[in-house]
Amino acid sequence: MPMKYYLAVYGCQMNISDAERAAAVLEQIGYKKTLNMNEADLILVTMCSIRQSAVDRIHGLVDKFEIIKKEREQTLPAGRQVQTILTGCVLKRDKKIFVDGFDYVLDIKDIKRIPQLLGAKTKIKNQTDYLDITPKYENKFSANVPIMTGCNNFCAYCVVPYVRGREISRPAKEIVLEIKKLINPTSPRLRGAKEIWLLGQNVNSYSNVLKNNRIVKFPKLLEMVNSIPGNFWIRFTSSHPKDFSDELINAMATCEKVKPYLNLPIQSGDDKILRAMKRFYTVEGYKNKIKKLRKSVPDIALSTDIIVGFPGETKTQFNNTVKLFKEIEYDLGYISKYSQRAGTAAAKLKDDVSTEEKKRREKVLTDVLKQTALEHNKKLVGTTTTVLINEPKNDFWLGKDEHYRTIKVYPNKTASQIKIGQFVKAKITSVTPFTLTAEVI
Ligand code: SAH
Ligand code: SF4
Ligand code: F3S
Repeated sequence: MPMKYYLAVYGCQMNISDAERAAAVLEQIGYKKTLNMNEADLILVTMCSIRQSAVDRIHGLVDKFEIIKKEREQTLPAGRQVQTILTGCVLKRDKKIFVDGFDYVLDIKDIKRIPQLLGAKTKIKNQTDYLDITPKYENKFSANVPIMTGCNNFCAYCVVPYVRGREISRPAKEIVLEIKKLINPTSPRLRGAKEIWLLGQNVNSYSNVLKNNRIVKFPKLLEMVNSIPGNFWIRFTSSHPKDFSDELINAMATCEKVKPYLNLPIQSGDDKILRAMKRFYTVEGYKNKIKKLRKSVPDIALSTDIIVGFPGETKTQFNNTVKLFKEIEYDLGYISKYSQRAGTAAAKLKDDVSTEEKKRREKVLTDVLKQTALEHNKKLVGTTTTVLINEPKNDFWLGKDEHYRTIKVYPNKTASQIKIGQFVKAKITSVTPFTLTAEVI
């Protein structure tokens, strides 16, 4: 019986990508994946520390492990036991806390050490960087490609620079080579990816010096990826508004594979709060960038990230965010209640907005968002869109269109051959704020 591993993945796309790398290492030493935690020989957790609630979830898991380990002790052969590994984004102080709850707490950059920790005899290929490990891609047609790791921005509320370290950009050549392999349907390594996500905490500050001393910045990288022959979509995340340049707008407008969707986190619609957050742009500056972008890419779909209840945020300051939401008319939004993180600059400020008030602010923004998204979507009824099919459901298929809108695609009588990973043209028949219904044409 092969040993089985179970992955518990928390956090952003970067953590999903890292978990796929850890999975590849485990497969190399003969482990097979299971979707049932209770039958795993190894449970590997990639954790997120962005909010305390994410950390609390890991405490919940640790309690579960104790029960699982006790139960499995009865059935496993002598000498064999369930092992647990914690990796991903773990704060230093949490490492100390979790060392008792896990068999191993491991820096993500050290996942190559897993075989050695588990006592495996098979040696895995010696890569210099953990990003060189070829992931075991979960999705059959959408691939995450990290282009950089870390963050230099130290926004006052955020732990990422502490858990991920400073920014390091991967060589542009390596990224292009990796994508060429990913989109090649005959490659043994993969299977013809249709969607490539370029990942980084702040992709806009990507920078790589080539051998001839030319510098490749993010807009140039987009052009390089765009010129790879093949039928695939390019998306990227995350973008910091301070580094969102005219060159990038231009690249988005001219690169036909770069799809018209952008997440540009503003975090607050109030200049004083932005200063306290150490975001280094103003609301006016942000709005001007959006204006320029909409001029160059008129059909761009926009999303943002917001933190409500940052220390000292008054009702008036919050209302500035509401005003901004109404002005920009976002299509999607990721709204978080401020969570104090030890060690960050904002931890020195009093977390003085009550949980109740944070919840209220979150709801107010969600309601505005629902309205603006619905208004945008209503205009789409009767138009056609291209959908990348992602998941079969009972009587329809789920996918995303070029604008990253979630689409329920219903087959019509003549076009029943819908497959996962296929681009299909569909006509939009009805809409809600965040889901559109369409019929294949
Ligand atoms: N690098 C990305 C963000 C990564 S974190 C960027 O700069 O856009 C994802 C989101 O989590 C952030 O945009 C922010 O809205 C939210 N977030 C980060 N720290 C937080 C905290 N301490 N409390 C609540 N939300 C937080
Ligand atoms: Fe965190 Fe993003 Fe700010 Fe970096 S840019 S510190 S990842 S919010
Ligand atoms: Fe969380 Fe790490 Fe991503 S802290 S948001 S998983 S970079």
